[in-house]
Amino acid sequence: MDRQPGLSVRLKLTLSYAGFIMIAGVMLLAVVWVFLLRYVPEVMFGPASGPDRSDLMDAFAPKVAIMLVCLLVFGLVGGWILAGSMLAPLTRITNATRLVADGSLSHRIRLEGRKDEFRDLADDFDAMLTRLEAHDAEQQRFAANASHELRTPLAITQTLLEVARTDPNPNTAELIERLHFVNTRAIDLTEALLLLSRADQQSFTRAPVDLSLVVEEATETLLPLAEKGGITIETSGEVVVTTGSHPLLLQMVTNLVHNAIVHNSPDRGTVWVATEAHADTAVLRVENTGAIVSAQLVSTFTEPFQRGTQRVRTDHAGVGLGLAIVKSIVHAHGGTLTLAPRDGGGLSVTVQLPVAE
Ligand SMILES: Nc1ncnc2c1ncn2[C@@H]1O[C@H](COP(=O)(O)OP(=O)(O)OP(=O)(O)O)[C@@H](O)[C@H]1O
Ligand SMILES: [Mg+2]
Repeated sequence: MDRQPGLSVRLKLTLSYAGFIMIAGVMLLAVVWVFLLRYVPEVMFGPASGPDRSDLMDAFAPKVAIMLVCLLVFGLVGGWILAGSMLAPLTRITNATRLVADGSLSHRIRLEGRKDEFRDLADDFDAMLTRLEAHDAEQQRFAANASHELRTPLAITQTLLEVARTDPNPNTAELIERLHFVNTRAIDLTEALLLLSRADQQSFTRAPVDLSLVVEEATETLLPLAEKGGITIETSGEVVVTTGSHPLLLQMVTNLVHNAIVHNSPDRGTVWVATEAHADTAVLRVENTGAIVSAQLVSTFTEPFQRGTQRVRTDHAGVGLGLAIVKSIVHAHGGTLTLAPRDGGGLSVTVQLPVAE
């Protein structure tokens, strides 16, 4: 914003400080003067003798003037120093704000001393900077990972084409098959990224959605995949209605059940999907058998492009966006996502969403 130049707060404080001292001084001197007029003449200057009131005025006035000048100087100098020391923290906060505006998020004010209004402001500002810096780092990591993941299928395509070009009698059918596979993967990845940004922006229409129906829909689609891997899906639960986007909630359940299938034990695994209606929360629980995972590893699963270390099913070429998308969808619907290792191996995922009114 363009502003007209004005007086600094320090100058304004100094002037008001000196002004108040002057008013107090003048009032005090007025009291003294009234006192002199009323009582002193009778005692000091007898009715018929000695100096009269004009002499008194002549004697008093210069002293008053000197006194007022002293008070003014005292008020101005004292006020200037006092205002300066009071406003010093503000200068540091302002400098920090300018640094941030120039793009340096690593700077912290770290105002020392006991708690007061300025320290509160500085601490809140530091906390905000910490959050901003973490968010910024996360965004950068995300962009780097996304470009890396997007480059991989392109690089594979390039290699396949180069090999085919130098090959005297290339196997076109196989080449097409491979290119198709790589291309599908690139499309899936791009779609996942688009979905993630759509959920993050919360640009979707909301309507009442029955979670148990969504579960039914998702498990039906994924049943062939589960059967192929020898995995049984057990669904249970009650009708529970939340408000949100049906396609996004379907994507959320699909991602969770898909994970529960592909990250399950190699054979005879089980997936449990349940919905529960609580007082004001709709709960979706997806659990699966599988390898034992540590709580520490589980806490990293929702990070974009994070994949678990042990691959149970090597034929599943995931990009590591499934749970990041689930997390964004859950947050966009005002819910919470909890991941925990399941007793006896595998994972237990709980989604809590607000129920529709
Ligand atoms: N139900 C589960 N049981 C065990 N591990 C799981 C489960 N769900 C996720 N994981 C672990 O968390 C990691 C991240 O999951 P996420 O869904 O985000 O990515 P992904 O499944 O590897 O790839 P995709 O983007 O295709 O979903 C997985 O690689 C896996 O190691
Ligand atoms: Mg997944």
